Amino acid sequence: MPARFALPPLPFAPDALEPAISAATFAEHHGGHHRAYVEALNRLAGEGGMAGAGLLDIVRTGRRALFDNAAQHFNHAFFWKSLSPARQAPAGRLAAMITRDFGGLDALKARLVESGAAHFASGWVWLVKRRGGLAVVATHDADTPVRLRTVLPLLVVDLWEHAYYLDHRRDRRAFLEAVVEQHLDWSFAARMLEAGAVEALAGEIGIANGAAD
Ligand code: FE2
Repeated sequence: MPARFALPPLPFAPDALEPAISAATFAEHHGGHHRAYVEALNRLAGEGGMAGAGLLDIVRTGRRALFDNAAQHFNHAFFWKSLSPARQAPAGRLAAMITRDFGGLDALKARLVESGAAHFASGWVWLVKRRGGLAVVATHDADTPVRLRTVLPLLVVDLWEHAYYLDHRRDRRAFLEAVVEQHLDWSFAARMLEAGAVEALAGEIGIANGAAD
């Protein structure tokens, strides 16, 4: 019986981030879009002889629709873990690196909002660690920093219209400001930083292969 990927549960109640992200958005985004990516991934991985492969192996070697759906499964699972109902602030080593590499938390938040707002069309804005330092990068469509083993994602915000249109219409900046100011899970980012590889937290992120249902 081949291993299959499963839709990970949201790590909070679907109305816990209102009004920044509504329960209606999570119903569509998590229960609709993410579920569809997982179902397509399982079908395409099976057809491609990769039903038993790990998700990151598929992301790093897959092409076209297989890559798109595998990467979107990873990106969405990582996005849910990047969100926090309660306002947090980074601490410890992460806070020190933010000060060193951006000049402070407010400057990092502004960079995330500006990079995300300026990004053309669909994609993702990430806080990553690369070459020893932190950086903000945006990726197009399904593209994801975990294609490169040298880049460690710490946080991500979804820039696709389905992430914000029900709550903020076309105002992506308002969505970004609300999420970045109030709803990023800096404790998750700190755990990623200490773990050093997404594989180390695959179970927590919800991207491991599960038993077939
Ligand atoms: Fe999305």
